[in-house]
Amino acid sequence: MKNGLEDVVAAETQLSHVDGEAGQLIIRGVSLDHLAGHASYEDVVALLFEGLLGPMPDRVELAKRLGEKRAEVFAHVGAIDDALLELPPVDIMRALIARLPDGEDLDTALRLLAAPAVFLPAALRMKSGEAPVAPTPALSHAADILAMLCAKVPSRQEVAALDAYLVTISDHGLNASTFASRVVASTKAGLTSSVLAAIGALKGPLHGGAPGPVLDMLDAIGTPENAEAWLSDALDHGERLMGFGHRVYRVRDPRADALKGALKRLIAAHPANRDRIRLAEEVEQSALAVLKVRKPDRPLDVNVEFYTALLLDALRFPRDAFTGVFAIGRTVGWIAHAREQALEGRLIRPRSLYVGPLPQQAA
Ligand code: CMC
Repeated sequence: MKNGLEDVVAAETQLSHVDGEAGQLIIRGVSLDHLAGHASYEDVVALLFEGLLGPMPDRVELAKRLGEKRAEVFAHVGAIDDALLELPPVDIMRALIARLPDGEDLDTALRLLAAPAVFLPAALRMKSGEAPVAPTPALSHAADILAMLCAKVPSRQEVAALDAYLVTISDHGLNASTFASRVVASTKAGLTSSVLAAIGALKGPLHGGAPGPVLDMLDAIGTPENAEAWLSDALDHGERLMGFGHRVYRVRDPRADALKGALKRLIAAHPANRDRIRLAEEVEQSALAVLKVRKPDRPLDVNVEFYTALLLDALRFPRDAFTGVFAIGRTVGWIAHAREQALEGRLIRPRSLYVGPLPQQAA
């Protein structure tokens, strides 16, 4: 038995491969390096859904149907009441998704892609006392998310940055939330149930809750000159440097490079965050140098969360919403895995090793 199922192969998949030694992520035969910044979110939906949900509409029809689904699910935003508004954004999103019908078809899948993209911006606006903005079905998925968040048409560069983020995190092997999705799918419960289980797994701080603390760290460091001393002090106190290290990647996390590229392109067009990225690059360099000295036996490099935090902050998502944005991007992967598991057909039902007391024998 392996604690945490570490290194246990629990599924065969054609969807994505995390190559920790080479520092490569392959999604359906395509390297992330060729997808992020080049493909749109809708392209990756088509790539991941291919062969799993019946005949796929062409790219234009797919975008149209996804836009219509955003308009359809907006009706549920009226259910956000004062009690729900007290909850974290990801919990509001989950509560509304629980109202949606279950099913195994493309229609259900598109509704589930639309739902978090509509519910998160609405919840964020309502939390700050503003009216939710209705979707614009003709916009791309990424553009509409930003339009619903900020109540204005986003720039081309902002849309490209969010597209790059959604593509980068669309799928990542058998992570905890994806495994949860597959377990539920194996019972034939339906895609909505799978996505709800996955969101429950994602929201834990060991999975989808890390990028907020990266910004806290940058705020605490403040200026590039403080970086080395602050980082050394944190390690002296036994702390982990947020946004560094990974369980599988033994070299650089390729998602960090994809997001750093997207962030740099965004900042070239919107220089407001230029100082922030300069600080982040200094912190990255200092952290790598300090970690090399302090942890010589452990290859530690920057991970996806470091540049996720900066990118989502630059796109004006509040830090308590980062897990929810992660869910918007990962839902396509959860659905694809759920369908792959359901089509494979075997119930996931492992065994446990009983180590408790045995019944007393009567004397
Ligand atoms: N800062 C300082 N030391 C570290 C760090 C770090 N960020 N990460 C690992 N180490 C050290 C750790 O202290 C240990 O040293 P020693 O052997 O001297 O005790 C050694 O490296 C191995 O640590 P581990 O916990 O066994 O390594 P792991 O592979 O299980 O940890 C991790 C992976 C992501 C939990 C860890 O690197 C970490 O806590 N990073 C900071 C939080 C973070 O950025 N999380 C987001 C990760 S990306 C998530 C995703 O892919 O979705």
